[in-house]
Amino acid sequence: MTKTISNSEPLNVESIIDSWKGRNGSLLGALEQAQQNDPKKYLSETTLREISKRLDIPLSRVYSVATFYSFFSLKPQGEHLLIVCRGTACHTRGSLVLLNEALSRLKIKEFNEKEENSVTSSDNLITIRTVACFGQCALAPVIMVDGLVLSRMTVSKLVSLLDKLKKGGER
Ligand code: FES
Repeated sequence: MTKTISNSEPLNVESIIDSWKGRNGSLLGALEQAQQNDPKKYLSETTLREISKRLDIPLSRVYSVATFYSFFSLKPQGEHLLIVCRGTACHTRGSLVLLNEALSRLKIKEFNEKEENSVTSSDNLITIRTVACFGQCALAPVIMVDGLVLSRMTVSKLVSLLDKLKKGGER
């Protein structure tokens, strides 16, 4: 019997991987869908090994793709994802102030952006991640919240956004 893939039902990782067998872009597709379906929105070592085995792709290649794209996370992520651009244009327009404000509001004390690119609040509500550039430098400083790009961000807009997320609201 063939299993139908739909967005409305939770899928196990084996079904996801098998649905990508023999298709173009199978590795990227399986990684992306596996991460989206994971309750903690990340790729565990078990998932990476399963993808390697079921798609017959060397584990080293699976790892190199999963670590190359900043979209993928090898650590559990929070309910919401806040990405702060730390490229030159955004930096000169105050992205470090935005990043520090977000860290402080979420009571995150330990984060060294030179050593890691993401950190999650202790209540697992928000993961903060940094990127090198969104390609929207003219609109700096730029952040992204749950996939939505927000330009010309200010501290006051960021604070109200974080308050809404904490209260369980949308962006
Ligand atoms: S440096 Fe931030 S969008 Fe380019």
